[in-house]
Amino acid sequence: MGDAAATGLPDAEALAQAGLALDIDGAVATVTLDRPERRNAMTFATWRTLARIGGNLPAGVRVVVLRGAGPSFSAGIDLSMFADPGAFPAGDDLDGFIAGLQEGYTWLRRPEIVSIAAVHGHTIGAGFQLALACDIRVAADDVKFCMKEPALGLVPDLTGTKPLVEAVGLNRALELCLTARTVLADEAARLGLVEISTTRDGLDAAVAGLVERLLAVNAEAAVATKRLLLEAPGNSLAEQCAAERREQAGRLKAMAAAFQG
Ligand code: ACO
Repeated sequence: MGDAAATGLPDAEALAQAGLALDIDGAVATVTLDRPERRNAMTFATWRTLARIGGNLPAGVRVVVLRGAGPSFSAGIDLSMFADPGAFPAGDDLDGFIAGLQEGYTWLRRPEIVSIAAVHGHTIGAGFQLALACDIRVAADDVKFCMKEPALGLVPDLTGTKPLVEAVGLNRALELCLTARTVLADEAARLGLVEISTTRDGLDAAVAGLVERLLAVNAEAAVATKRLLLEAPGNSLAEQCAAERREQAGRLKAMAAAFQG
């Protein structure tokens, strides 16, 4: 991975303190939630370190895989933080504080990368939201999704509500959040929470196959297409047609330049 300090990426100690492991191999970065003895419960340090990884990815990285070590993808926020009255800032500072934590999630949507959540076992609360922040979810047949925040007196605030509504619709999102019930693999696939379903033993191979297929596509076209698709839900048809023309003009010019050069 090279000299972490020089790249801006967290070093081994910072990663360990955040409960994370990071491996960058050419165009693929793999981030592992790596506190299996705590079911990969996540702390503020986890989310700040995720943001730092996202902010310092080497330019050649095209695919980011998020996975969990041990029996669960993630049991969500580390509940021990609620026992520390000093862990959360008071009053007016909370908005900026939460915005900083959300940065651990938002970078996964950047057009320059395709993010994959490889989920298995318990995928709860902040862990469910992390899976929702990714572009593509590959799920093992033992996955158990649960948006537990409302049951604990909280709301889901780590960027998960928008992709959840977009994936399953408003009414189903309401039902899932306000009952905090667990969704098993078959239902998750039916609801559109999962793009690729596999067995627990087949998870790594399914992710590897997906990564291979993603990297086989032209890199610049992939970035332009993701940018285009991200715009689609917020655009009118006319706006989206204009966006398609703009992106395609860029592609055609680049292809012509490459052909001539
Ligand atoms: N925070 C802190 N520690 C945790 C968490 C957590 N979220 N989840 C599990 N752990 C710890 C357990 O306390 C236990 O510690 P111990 O070995 O010292 O007793 C260890 O991890 C293993 O957990 P078990 O409960 O023994 O593991 P099991 O596989 O039986 O159950 C499960 C896993 C279902 C995830 C269970 O641990 C659980 O319900 N955890 C809490 C989930 C939760 O409410 N998360 C918050 C959601 S809201 C949000 O994320 C904003």
